[in-house]
Formats: sequence, C-alpha cells, structure tokens
Amino acid sequence: MLVICPDFRELHAVGLFVDRIFPCCCDKVMTDKLMQRERRDSVGRATSRVVEIGIGTGLNLPFYDSENVTGVIGIEPAPGMLCRARRRAAEVPFTVDFHQAGA
Ligand SMILES: C[S@@+](CC[C@H](N)C(=O)[O-])C[C@H]1O[C@@H](n2cnc3c(N)ncnc32)[C@H](O)[C@@H]1O
Repeated sequence: MLVICPDFRELHAVGLFVDRIFPCCCDKVMTDKLMQRERRDSVGRATSRVVEIGIGTGLNLPFYDSENVTGVIGIEPAPGMLCRARRRAAEVPFTVDFHQAGA
C-alpha cells in the first residue's frame, strides 16, 4: 500500500489556493458583461423556492427576482466559496440557506 504524506507547507499552499485564491479568481473571471447578461436572462426567470447546486461565491444571488423568488437553498462544497456567498446573501431580501455539501 502506498501512503502519501504531503509536506505541511504543501497542504497549507493547497488550502490557501482553495480557500482564498480560487474564490477570488472566480469573482473576477465570472463577472464580465456577457456573464452578467446571461445571469440576468436565466437566473432572473427563476420563481418560488430555488435550489442552486454549486452556488459558488453567490454571484447569481443579486439576479434572482425578489418579487418571484421566496428563498434560495445553496449547495456548495468549498468553504472559501461559501464564505463569500454568505456575505452576498446578507444583501438580498430573501432567505438563503446554505449547505456545505457536494451534490
Ligand atoms: C463555475 S462555479 C459556478 C458558481 C455559481 N453557480 C455562479 O454561477 O457563479 C461551480 C461551483 O460548483 C461547485 N461544485 C463543484 N462540484 C460540485 C458538486 N459535486 N456539488 C455541488 N457543487 C459543486 C464548485 O465548488 C463551484 O463553486
């Protein structure tokens, strides 16, 4: 049996990337004009209670129509993404329940 014991510094670097750098990159890359239009056109049509699988940093949240959406359930495995999504959820007028899990 092969047992791999990564150096602590390597683990720390991976954690830093997953928790900080990747969420930050997602926010930068996924907010251009085309993406904003796509989000408005698709997410804006959602109604009632929504389950968003892979909610990421919550970039879709401002695009849900609060007149038609009563709440969002956000599924996301990555803690660093969830952290940003929670901050965004505090700024929308409907309830967002998060579940840290993979679908
Ligand atoms: C490309 S991002 C999209 C995030 C968000 N929906 C958006 O439009 O900005 C995909 C997200 O799905 C998450 N993800 C990956 N595998 C998943 C799984 N098995 N179940 C739930 N979420 C997953 C990733 O961590 C990532 O945050």
